[in-house]
Amino acid sequence: MAPAIPVVIEARGLGKIFSVERAPIVALQDISFAVPEGRFVSLVGPSGCGKSTLLQMLAGLVPSTTGEVLVDGAVVRRPIPEKISVMFQDATLLPWKRIAENIEFPLEIAGVPAAERHARAAGMLALVGLSEFAERYPHELSGGMRQRIAIARGLAPNPRILLMDEPFGALDEQTRIKMGHELLRIWAKTKKTIFFITHSLTEALFLSDIVLVMSHRPGRIVGVIDAALPRPRTYDIIGSAEFGAVRNRIWKLISQDDTEAGETGMASL
Ligand SMILES: Nc1ncnc2c1ncn2[C@@H]1O[C@H](COP(=O)(O)OP(=O)(O)OP(=O)(O)O)[C@@H](O)[C@H]1O
Ligand SMILES: [Mg+2]
Repeated sequence: MAPAIPVVIEARGLGKIFSVERAPIVALQDISFAVPEGRFVSLVGPSGCGKSTLLQMLAGLVPSTTGEVLVDGAVVRRPIPEKISVMFQDATLLPWKRIAENIEFPLEIAGVPAAERHARAAGMLALVGLSEFAERYPHELSGGMRQRIAIARGLAPNPRILLMDEPFGALDEQTRIKMGHELLRIWAKTKKTIFFITHSLTEALFLSDIVLVMSHRPGRIVGVIDAALPRPRTYDIIGSAEFGAVRNRIWKLISQDDTEAGETGMASL
């Protein structure tokens, strides 16, 4: 028997209630799942179902109301930047800093000496194929290039886990597909565990080993889909019958829940 892959992230009975003036918002309810080491896991679900809240709870940035998050078997109570990097939904590069300085920024905060910071930034720039832009400013790069720099910045502290909240949401379809390929290449090379939020079922399925499907608010896990399609993945796979069948299963889970909830927050195909 093959040895079991260790679990790096575990959510146990997570719930979140936001206390607001008029009525409390139940954002998440009874969320439990486990992410094995080195896997690419995506989370899909309608807008407002609590995906970003869940990611921030995994990162130790937002406390849960019930349940707990474990990383490497230890309960997470605060951010652990040496293990977990987060790419936020609306994260931007610092416009007044050069590209290399942007990548070095989290290392500077962590007190990494200058020489090592420069070396790591150079390594990350090479990894994302943008070495020649080290001395440029963010406004001199395209949207897709800036996203690659944001990935480089997330990887610079050499975390084991990368949490990504809709990192390609603002990109056009072509760039988005290219970025997906790029992320898979980087993932294969660095062997990180990736937890990736997206609205796109196609993107989730193209990238992932496992797709977690969430319901409308209060967000619950309504499906854990094994996306065991062959790797390396190329664009052609998206047109295959196998891909279409699994995507339909995810869509059914989401649309069934849609009918029950009678709301309109849609995930996109
Ligand atoms: N700090 C907060 N205070 C009060 N309510 C909040 C807070 N953060 C999130 N919420 C509420 O929790 C719910 C889930 O929000 P969240 O941002 O996690 O959704 P999401 O699934 O990431 O949505 P989207 O796909 O649009 O990014 C929403 O109803 C939102 O209004
Ligand atoms: Mg969100």
